[in-house]
Amino acid sequence: MNKDTITFALLFSFLIFSCAKNTNPNQSNNDIYTKVDSLMNLMTIKEKIGQTIMYSGDWDVTGPFISSDNMKLIRTGNLGAMLNVYSAKKTKELQKIAVEETRLGIPLLFGYDVIHGFRTIFPINLGHASSWDMEDIKKSARIAAEESSSEGLHWTFAPMLDIGRDPRWGRISEAAGEDVYLMNKIADAYVKGFQGQDLSRHNTILACAKHFVGYGAAQAGRDYHTVNMGEDELRNVYLPPFKAAVDAGAESFMTAFNELNGVPATGNKFIFRDILRDEWGFNGFVVTDYTAINELVPHGFAVDEKHAAELAIKAGIDLDMMSGAYKSYLEELVNDGKIDIDLINDACRRILTAKYKLGLFDDPYRYSDEERENKTIYKPEYLEAARESAAMSSVLLKNDNNALPLSKKETIALIGPLAKDKENIIGNWAAAGDRNGKAISIYQGIKSYLNDANILYAKGCDIETNDKSGFKKAISLAKIADKIVLVMGENYHMSGEAASRTNINIPGVQTELIKALRKEVPNKQIILILMNGRPLDLSEEDTITDAILEIWFPGTSGGYGVADVLFGEYNPSAKLPITFPRSIGQVPIYYNVKNTGRPIPLDNPKEDYKSNYIDSPNTPLYPFGHGLSYTNFDYSDITLSSNKIGIYDTLSVSVNIKNTGNYDGHEIAQLYIHDKVGSITRPVKELKGFKKIHLKKGESKTVQFKITHEDLKFFDGHEFVAEAGEFEITISNSSDFTFKNTFELKM
Ligand code: NOJ
Repeated sequence: MNKDTITFALLFSFLIFSCAKNTNPNQSNNDIYTKVDSLMNLMTIKEKIGQTIMYSGDWDVTGPFISSDNMKLIRTGNLGAMLNVYSAKKTKELQKIAVEETRLGIPLLFGYDVIHGFRTIFPINLGHASSWDMEDIKKSARIAAEESSSEGLHWTFAPMLDIGRDPRWGRISEAAGEDVYLMNKIADAYVKGFQGQDLSRHNTILACAKHFVGYGAAQAGRDYHTVNMGEDELRNVYLPPFKAAVDAGAESFMTAFNELNGVPATGNKFIFRDILRDEWGFNGFVVTDYTAINELVPHGFAVDEKHAAELAIKAGIDLDMMSGAYKSYLEELVNDGKIDIDLINDACRRILTAKYKLGLFDDPYRYSDEERENKTIYKPEYLEAARESAAMSSVLLKNDNNALPLSKKETIALIGPLAKDKENIIGNWAAAGDRNGKAISIYQGIKSYLNDANILYAKGCDIETNDKSGFKKAISLAKIADKIVLVMGENYHMSGEAASRTNINIPGVQTELIKALRKEVPNKQIILILMNGRPLDLSEEDTITDAILEIWFPGTSGGYGVADVLFGEYNPSAKLPITFPRSIGQVPIYYNVKNTGRPIPLDNPKEDYKSNYIDSPNTPLYPFGHGLSYTNFDYSDITLSSNKIGIYDTLSVSVNIKNTGNYDGHEIAQLYIHDKVGSITRPVKELKGFKKIHLKKGESKTVQFKITHEDLKFFDGHEFVAEAGEFEITISNSSDFTFKNTFELKM
């Protein structure tokens, strides 16, 4: 750049900034649209297309670096966004180039996968969903936003809102499980946590609801696989969490990799234009998933990448993550008369609007502040919050003869490939989390409660190999300990993207080690602590262990949080957000199934010619909503305010819950209904509410829920309606119950 050009660029940036100066952080959207329009009047078509392009930074041992091609794009004002680049220093350095060296000085947008924490890592999303604690989930997203924004990030590719009912699918770990109601609430919590009250503040980041839509219904649980579903299932099950994200104010959406009924999501006008924009009024921007525009070609939907770019922009996709197709072909497509320039204008406008909302035109460096970064990451209170989340997310699946909690006086044999692990404990998609130094292993957590002499440690075996050479030591230690505590499961690569499994057992020879211990040390209690990213088939382990604690991948402070549960410092309260099958043959399995025309009789589940298996019960091993406590909660006196409601009425349903055991604790009371007859058949059970309450031992509380006809609506093929008729209703501690109460909705 010569001197004159630099002077011009600086003057121009000054003008843009001063006219765009955001004196009022709550500037109205209309102000922003006016500013965007005046900026766009100055832009060339190439610069507009530049805003629709996102490329990734790379990493080496010294930190992030940017390829020379991408540097060139930034320097010429032809790149709108980057992913996988963070740190206050690096983002500031790049932002300076974008702002001070280009003709219009438009700031870059930095996005990253901040999925369950940024530096301080919280339990994986499926794990955190087990807490059923919306405040805690929101808080984790807030902390992730504080940390990541201090390192220059403006945008997270989260929350993932894909309903998952097939544990073979590795990405089941990244969302909140199988249920629509729970996922809706969690969508709201994450979006509000990331985005806060005011996006123009330096500590808030844009949320991105992904993957729109149907990704979790991939055939056979194979990642990226085909999805076919009717509009009934799409509208009643897969779309609602995304609508909840729009209602919570989510500023961006990401396309799914899959095709939906023959049309790949990234070229799907029906879902992006008709539903997302026209029906739901979404006015944020849509980004593709990684190289998803290119993939329209192998999908067999586009002839070549130019055609793919045309289909994507026509479908309403604004930002091209990594495919390069918008960069190479959008201008040509306008010149060929294949697309209208307004499609590019719309995409550019939406992306610039987000940058204005973030306050980047006001101060492009506000997120890249080294001093704030140093003060923010890994704050002690964040690590403490992660510890509490890990405790709240650990699900006690079984606990025969009060094997748990452990006593501080006992000697334990701590065995298993994950007992001392710090690498896997923070799970997949762990952003900038530290897999060594900062993570607290289960061993360290237990050590904070027991003397060294009371912990006898043996690794026993690996996660995946068939090596049994460590069995002998493990057995000999088990023989001299009071209790056997096993820490086993999957490694973190076994869930997440491209990590589908056809076998959902605990891998390697881990179960063989449990069997050997059971045989050699028959009279000692065996407690299995499980770290994994999906529901596993635990039918064998269930018969040879005394207690099972599902801790998922519990995060940076996981060792401490799990130890709090093991020693009764936190009385477990988590409930499964997903069904655990008895075998892989039952998959997909979920609680809110349809009845079929041949339901199995309760008193004769094996009856011939009914909808059952000849070699397995239909029921799961552990149902949705299940999770034990060290105390007992008795439910009694379910009361309905009426047995009939009209469309303007509210039904109150209450239950008395008493803590009859020996520990104080939290209980999560769940409200279920069953719409007995529908113009589109309804599931046998549907969650419609939940409340987490605390009860001291001996204490009772009445828990009340309210239901209106809004809660009874479903998509009937044309619209959302509540239909008159009889409903069953109950409040329970899991989805495993039989309804006893009914009411009628009258029109
Ligand atoms: C691919 C994944 O599907 C998506 O969830 C993620 O946000 C992008 N890669 C970016 O890393």
